[in-house]
Amino acid sequence: MTEFLPESGLVAWQWVPNAARIALEAGRQLRGFFEHGVATEYKGEVDLVTVADRTVETYLRQALAEHFPDHGIFGEEGTRDRMDSGYRWYVDPLDGTTNFAHGFPHFCVSMGLERRDAALAADAEGELVAAVIYDPMRQELFVGEKGKGAWRNGRPMAVSRTQHLAESLVATGFPSRKRHANPNIHFYQEFTLRSHGVRRAGSAALDLAYVACGRLEAFWEFQLNPWDTAAGFLLVEEAGGLITGFDGSPRKLDSREVLASNGRIHAELLETFDRLFAGRDLDPIPTPAEYARSRQAGGV
Ligand code: IPD
Ligand code: CA
Ligand code: CA
Repeated sequence: MTEFLPESGLVAWQWVPNAARIALEAGRQLRGFFEHGVATEYKGEVDLVTVADRTVETYLRQALAEHFPDHGIFGEEGTRDRMDSGYRWYVDPLDGTTNFAHGFPHFCVSMGLERRDAALAADAEGELVAAVIYDPMRQELFVGEKGKGAWRNGRPMAVSRTQHLAESLVATGFPSRKRHANPNIHFYQEFTLRSHGVRRAGSAALDLAYVACGRLEAFWEFQLNPWDTAAGFLLVEEAGGLITGFDGSPRKLDSREVLASNGRIHAELLETFDRLFAGRDLDPIPTPAEYARSRQAGGV
């Protein structure tokens, strides 16, 4: 545990040490399931779930209730405990289920804590105050608290200093529901042509953690939920980054559309979204049929 957090006394944590202990145990369980292999079920057309998702959510529910008995819990696999509490954990027991189910070793457990004033309406949001994301395959623990910075395995994290999209590595993800209704492939193409590359690694929480620690300059996605983003949002902001909607509007806890960056390339990203949504500046690339014809004609 000590190797995962800053030296003792360096940060006056309120929630992180206990939450980190819980996340490390959740990660140990995920790794065990991963190594033994688990059967996969379908929640939707390509929306997968496994016994690991459910077992680890049950564990998080019980462990959080034990350490933070008056906190609420909102979990991807259906937990809705103490929803009128002044604090609420958004938990994704396994972010990256599709990777996990295929033996692709890139996934994590994600827990973000929201503080909610008593006067807050049920549908209004509070502020994010704590974040823990753990990748059990790389044994990387990302943590943060509001005003106390973001940390990876005990070292402070900062977003990258890159100033231009053309010199950036960026990431995205694709929704598993209503796939035919989503235009993201066009954005994928355009950002591929305008940057060093676009990664689609399959865990939104780790994508956000990677923006926070400077491995990625930016991340965007169309259809996310608070259990995917709550922890990652706080990490990016505590590491000096910026998160908005695709139109530059302030991010909310339940923002479905998310654009996170190191801040330095944010204006350029927003301009690109704006132009693409307006139908301008789509770079022409050959259709597969055009490509096949020019190949036949010896043009490639
Ligand atoms: C998914 C992952 C993926 C993202 C999807 C999410 P899950 O979460 O974060 O990267 O593209 O939108 O639903 O289902 O693996 O917890
Ligand atoms: Ca998720
Ligand atoms: Ca999940």
